Amino acid sequence: MPTDRVLYLLGSAAPPVLALPPVIKQAQAAGWDVCLGLSPTAADWLADDLGALESLTGHPVRHRHRRPGQVDPWPPAAVALVAPATFNTINSWALGLTSSFIVGFAAEAIGKRIPLVTMPCVNSALASHPQFGRSVDVLRDAGVRVLLGDGGFIPNAPGQGQPGAFPWERALAVVRDT
Ligand SMILES: Cc1cc2nc3c(=O)[nH]c(=O)nc-3n(C[C@H](O)[C@H](O)[C@H](O)COP(=O)(O)O)c2cc1C
Repeated sequence: MPTDRVLYLLGSAAPPVLALPPVIKQAQAAGWDVCLGLSPTAADWLADDLGALESLTGHPVRHRHRRPGQVDPWPPAAVALVAPATFNTINSWALGLTSSFIVGFAAEAIGKRIPLVTMPCVNSALASHPQFGRSVDVLRDAGVRVLLGDGGFIPNAPGQGQPGAFPWERALAVVRDT
C-alpha cells in the first residue's frame, strides 16, 4: 500500500469511539491503510477491543507517546482524521498541550503540513464555553478542516447525544477530498 493512502484515525473519549470497526472498514474499502490512535481515556474504554482493532487495521493501536529510541511503528500519514474529538482534545490541540499521543501528533502535524480534518463531538453546553470557539478558530486558522455546524457535527443538548448519528460519512468524504 503506497504511503499516499495512509490515514491516521485519531479518536478521543466520546461515545462514537466505541463503534469504530464499521468506520475503519468503510475507510479501508475506499482504499485507505488505516492506523488507529486513541487518547488514553478512549484506549481505556476500548481496552477489551484493542487486539481486534489491531487485527482489523494491521497496525499497532497507539495510545501513548513512544519511548526514546523506540521506532515509529506506523507508515507516514497522508492525512489524519481526529474524530471523535472531545472538548478536551480540541482545546488541548489548539492550546498546544500535548500530553496525549494523538494531540501530540496532531499538533506537530500542523507544522509538518500534513492535511488534518477533525470532527468534534461536544454537547451544546460545552460548545458554549468561551474557550471552545476560540480553539476552533485557532485550528481553522492553522489550516485544520474542523467539521462543526453545517456540514459537520451539530452539538446536541446535554444528555441527548446520538452516537449512531455521528456523521462519519461526511468526515470520510472530506478526508477523501484532501
Ligand atoms: C459516557 C461518557 C460520555 C462522554 N461524552 C463526551 C462527549 O461526547 N464529548 C466530550 O467532549 N466529552 C465527553 N466525555 C468526557 C470525556 O471522556 C473526558 O473529558 C475525557 O477526559 C476526554 O479525554 P480525551 O480528550 O483525552 O479523550 C464523556 C465521558 C463519559 C464518561
